[in-house]
Amino acid sequence: MRYAQENSPAPSPVHVAIIMDGNGRWAKARGLPRTAGHRKGVEAVRRTVEAARELGIAYLTIFSFSSENWRRPQEEVSELMGLLRLYLRSEIAELHRAGVRLKVVGDRRKLDHDIVRMIANAEEMTAGNTAMTLVVALNYGSRQEIAHAARRLVEEVLDGRLDPAAIDEEAIAARLFTHGIPDPDLIVRTSGEKRLSNFLLWQSAYAELVFTDTLWPDFTKRDLEAAIEEFHRRERRFGATTAGSR
Ligand code: IPE
Ligand code: IPE
Ligand code: MG
Repeated sequence: MRYAQENSPAPSPVHVAIIMDGNGRWAKARGLPRTAGHRKGVEAVRRTVEAARELGIAYLTIFSFSSENWRRPQEEVSELMGLLRLYLRSEIAELHRAGVRLKVVGDRRKLDHDIVRMIANAEEMTAGNTAMTLVVALNYGSRQEIAHAARRLVEEVLDGRLDPAAIDEEAIAARLFTHGIPDPDLIVRTSGEKRLSNFLLWQSAYAELVFTDTLWPDFTKRDLEAAIEEFHRRERRFGATTAGSR
């Protein structure tokens, strides 16, 4: 089984995924435009990547832009893409120095060519790094990801490369954008919202969910530590019985 040992003392999370939410409300509370919140949000990303590395987290996933975020006003989408460009341009060298491997998950077809190129270069440059894997979910939507995997499976069956009887959990997981990345142990969402918003639906089957009221631009290492402490207070059962009940 891929699942951890039942009822064992909770080990530290290997994979932490964060739904970074609340940039707009952070700005609104200060009478600033939403874009000011997004700019502050980038600083929180820098802090959190560093904190995760210091805390020994092997995989950190950050939800940066959802496939539904195109529904926002065009100026806000442009601002977010501009910040992404800036982040990639200014941080890749530093991430590489720190031994971070970058991986982007999501549908790249709708992204501007220069961004796609920067991502491909960064992934290639950092592919051999082992300190931490930073997974950036960009134009990511979990339902679209699953539909894409289903399409691939059908194509392989029609081509005679795949026996339908061989389609199991692993076969599906192997065709998701996240193939090769362990399922998240802990998903944190900031800003008080309690939903997944189309994020890692398949992968979160047994993730512990932690919701914090902190708005993303205010998120610090201390908030990440608090989420991990909450994770340690949970008992993960993976469908087995409660510890001590047998
Ligand atoms: C998160 O902050 C950033 C993205 C989703 C890109 P929001 O922009 O969603 O902020 P709120 O939810 O409006 O406060
Ligand atoms: C989820 O936040 C997407 C990201 C954090 C990138 P949203 O702010 O877009 O989610 P909803 O619309 O409140 O569900
Ligand atoms: Mg939001």
